[in-house]
Amino acid sequence: MFKKIKNNEKLFLQLLSNLKNNKKYSNHCRPIKILGIETSCDDTGVAIVDDTGKIIGQALCSQQKIHTRNGGIIPPVARDLHYENITKVCEDALKSANLKLRDIDAIATTVKPGLPLSLDVGNKFGKYLCQIGNKPYIPIHHMEAHALTARMVEKVELPFLVLLISGGHCLLALVKKIDDFYLLGTSLDDAPGEAFDKVARKLKIFNLPQYRDKNGGAVIEHAAKFSNDPLQFEFPVPMPHYRDCNFSFSGIKNTVNTIIWRQEKEFDICGDGIVPDLYNICAGFQLSVGKHIGHKTKRAMKFLDHSNLIPDDRRTLVVSGGVACNDFIAKCLNVVCEEMDYRLVRPPPQLCTDNGIMIAWNGIERWRENCGVIRDPDEIAKVDIEHRSPLGTDWIPLVKEADIQCSTIKTKQLLSIL
Ligand code: KG4
Ligand code: ZN
Repeated sequence: MFKKIKNNEKLFLQLLSNLKNNKKYSNHCRPIKILGIETSCDDTGVAIVDDTGKIIGQALCSQQKIHTRNGGIIPPVARDLHYENITKVCEDALKSANLKLRDIDAIATTVKPGLPLSLDVGNKFGKYLCQIGNKPYIPIHHMEAHALTARMVEKVELPFLVLLISGGHCLLALVKKIDDFYLLGTSLDDAPGEAFDKVARKLKIFNLPQYRDKNGGAVIEHAAKFSNDPLQFEFPVPMPHYRDCNFSFSGIKNTVNTIIWRQEKEFDICGDGIVPDLYNICAGFQLSVGKHIGHKTKRAMKFLDHSNLIPDDRRTLVVSGGVACNDFIAKCLNVVCEEMDYRLVRPPPQLCTDNGIMIAWNGIERWRENCGVIRDPDEIAKVDIEHRSPLGTDWIPLVKEADIQCSTIKTKQLLSIL
């Protein structure tokens, strides 16, 4: 009798071990796949990424042309376009991956921060997919997703310094863990992309056929390449004496407005006319933005050194967000990185601007750590959007307290890389 029980027990243990191994084996064979949804502003993006970082499928529908024609984003228009496009974008992404909803392990969606009407469309759609497909839900912070995308394309170990420059944000932060951020600086007024867009509109640059329907940053970067004298006009470098990592772009923007106003008067330009020194204005503006961003980033590096927050072998600056597509600004950052002995990591342009891939990847990072994955349908139903949502713990007062001296970046140094 005893022998029989013993044998059964052996059999049972064997069975258990087989099951365990099978589980391991099947997990190993079938990578986790997460579908990411992005609708925080004016891009409807859906993508499927697996836990090896492979983009299996994606689709993106940009509303930018419509908003450029409207002179800026009108939130209800953005919402209606998201509603109009999201189902098709999702179907296209699944089709390009050759997958069905049943093959997806979880749905990740941007729920904060962003335009409330836009965020709401993605959140409702994501929760609907969870409901019909019986999937877990992973709510995502848009700026955390921008910051972590670099880890999908390159080996970037934690902790690292991140600079996020886009149409809605300007943030410097220390990323300690995937859900543990420390804010070192932010913009006190406009975001840099917003300044690029406003300056481009003020210059009426979109009237030129080659620039019609493009974004403000891309057209200014392009126009600046034709400048023969980036120093023709004097632009201020904002807040050089404030010993913090905060940004301000409204002063530079106002300087451009004054220059345009003067030139329009001097050369009697009205209506759709464009000022004669367009290229030099673009180059001077971009130079000033680059110097400012570089200077504040350098202070952030000095602060991290001062507080011993980044090990010597991890000195990495990740730059992302739409403005990170700008090659001149990247070169300015490279100058700072060389001086401070940092490695610069910049994801490819299509991953710097808003997309569903970064949301799916953030979902993968959270899935791996089992952090913020909601499985209970009642809890999923309760997930709401947050229009405003500061990134991480506020260390801005700590940076100010540290009172770190930091020289500005020399114009000469930057002109040599133009
Ligand atoms: O990250 P993003 O796609 O959307 C958010 O704002 O979240 O960034 C869009 C912004 C726009 O303001 C656009 O003018 C700016 O990124 N941008 C650029 C460049 N390409 C896009 N700014 C400067 N230079 C560029 N090449
Ligand atoms: Zn963004």
